[in-house]
Amino acid sequence: MIRLEGITKRFPGSPRPAVDGIDLTVPEGTICAVIGPSGCGKSTTLRMVNQLIEPDAGRIWVADRDVTGIDPVVLRRGIGYVLQGVGLFPHRTVAQNVATVPGLLGWTRARTAARVDAMLDLVGLDPARDGPRRPDELSGGQRQRVGVARALAADPPVLLMDEPFGAVDPVARDRLQVEIGAILRSLRKTVMIVTHDLDEAMRLGDQVALMRDGRIVQTDAPARLLAHPADAFVAGFVGQDRTLRRLALIPAGTLASAGDAGGAPNVTPETSVRDALALLLASGGDHLAVRGDPPAILTLAAIRAEAARA
Ligand SMILES: Nc1ncnc2c1ncn2[C@@H]1O[C@H](COP(=O)(O)OP(=O)(O)OP(=O)(O)O)[C@@H](O)[C@H]1O
Ligand SMILES: [Mg+2]
Repeated sequence: MIRLEGITKRFPGSPRPAVDGIDLTVPEGTICAVIGPSGCGKSTTLRMVNQLIEPDAGRIWVADRDVTGIDPVVLRRGIGYVLQGVGLFPHRTVAQNVATVPGLLGWTRARTAARVDAMLDLVGLDPARDGPRRPDELSGGQRQRVGVARALAADPPVLLMDEPFGAVDPVARDRLQVEIGAILRSLRKTVMIVTHDLDEAMRLGDQVALMRDGRIVQTDAPARLLAHPADAFVAGFVGQDRTLRRLALIPAGTLASAGDAGGAPNVTPETSVRDALALLLASGGDHLAVRGDPPAILTLAAIRAEAARA
């Protein structure tokens, strides 16, 4: 659905390319998280997909169309985007902000109004209360939600997001990640999301592309990236606690076995193994009950065996 082939960009006056021969495929309906240190070329890569920046070499396809041949204005109307540092229009209301692309596309007033209400509702805002407000009357997290609603308004199949939750506190960020991630998945959007928050990448991405100095060092599913870092740089980036991060991606149910847990504390099968482990350590026992029919048990030994698999 999004495909980059040999994409390169060198800014004038710079000794080396900001983006250096990138290949990346994001299948339809999946989320690709692009991650890496500051200045490694993440934003430049994203901006080339909707032609805010023109690549020097390589080709980019969006929905089987070579975007280099398309009028950038038309292209951008078909791609929703939330870009780093590009906020809402401050002098327009929340509703007017969300209505931006429908307006450009010439939708009728009634259709646009209905769509704006539906989008605000979708991202957890109240159309009646929040629609008439100005952006500066909202919290950071609410503004971020409006940005996502605006990006989704014309129902584009493709979404580009550059640090969309960058400006919010960790607690709000946590909730936004979960909620917006669920929305993007339920709508089956094809998404490239740039972040430098590893947990955010792991949580949102079907695949994670890790960049360094303009190149992609590794593209893999989150659990694979944590279990099998391609080199020392990747291992360093994903950190000493990569085993714990990986356990956070595994549901307790997948490691459970048949058995009687006695009076041990219980978790749902969907609870992450990391959370289950925390509960297990706090309880002082060596196993937990996993709710279900029939009930099962999760043992410390099973967690240890999984942790050792990497
Ligand atoms: N318009 C520009 N003109 C010249 N150099 C630029 C321009 N935009 C980016 N660069 C340079 O290209 C490199 C990559 O920048 P980019 O913004 O893509 O990094 P990034 O990975 O998004 O970083 P961050 O995490 O800090 O947002 C940097 O060295 C940056 O200084
Ligand atoms: Mg950036």
